[in-house]
Amino acid sequence: MQNAEKQTAKPNVIDAILSIFDSTVGRKYIMGLSGLALVGFIVFHLAGNLSLFFGAEAFNSYVLKLESLGPLIRLAELGLMAVFVFHIIFAFSVTAQNKAARKTRYAVKGNAGKPSRKTIASQSMIYTGLVLLIFIVAHVWMFRFATRFNPEHVTIHGAEVINLYTPVVAAFKNPWIALAYSAVMLLLGMHVSHGFWSAFQSLGAYHPRYTPVIYTAGVLLALLLAVGFIALPGWVYFMVPVK
Ligand code: HEM
Repeated sequence: MQNAEKQTAKPNVIDAILSIFDSTVGRKYIMGLSGLALVGFIVFHLAGNLSLFFGAEAFNSYVLKLESLGPLIRLAELGLMAVFVFHIIFAFSVTAQNKAARKTRYAVKGNAGKPSRKTIASQSMIYTGLVLLIFIVAHVWMFRFATRFNPEHVTIHGAEVINLYTPVVAAFKNPWIALAYSAVMLLLGMHVSHGFWSAFQSLGAYHPRYTPVIYTAGVLLALLLAVGFIALPGWVYFMVPVK
């Protein structure tokens, strides 16, 4: 009987994992880790997309490199989607939790508590995040899925690959699409400028000397991402000749 009780009291691995999602610290960890993973993807995505500056062959060679990873790239896409979903779900949960905590603090102290590093970027995370969510759904539909309906193929170094250069250029030759992309990339910059630093805070990485360095690094990274991503539609719109 005692043995049976001991067995049911044994910590269950699944319960332990689920409790991470339930705890405030666990949720912040998930937000921090998923946020940093997404920043990693965005940096990688920008680096690859910079090949657009070098013309059709360079851009489609990059697509070929990705496609030649075969099932690995499909697996990475699924992993990326899971990270996005976690980040979004927990963003809503943490925002609701912060709102509730703020209300309690107001009721008890009549103010927002300790002074904090409040900026427009920090206070609009949920809104910039929502715009980015709409952008990503439209973007993935436009470039990842719609391009597969009636694909044109090109041969690069003897290998056949889908031509993604032509639909990307066609999209950015539309002034409204180029403008909308540029506007959303400013919001991406705002989101990352606060999110990068905030992710480290969520992971418990605080140090009086290094935290300001992380904050500055996040702002610089955000600036680089916004400028890089705006340069792409700008370059295509103004510099790529119409055929
Ligand atoms: C102006 C800059 C951008 C260009 C030219 C661009 C281009 C592309 C292209 C061509 C694809 C399809 C790749 C393929 O089918 O193999 C793609 C997919 C994707 N892009 Fe972008 N992108 C840009 C900005 C962004 C930004 C800022 C984000 C995120 C905030 C983003 C997120 C994604 C995601 C999540 C996918 C799907 C990944 C996959 O399933 O392979 N993109 N992009």
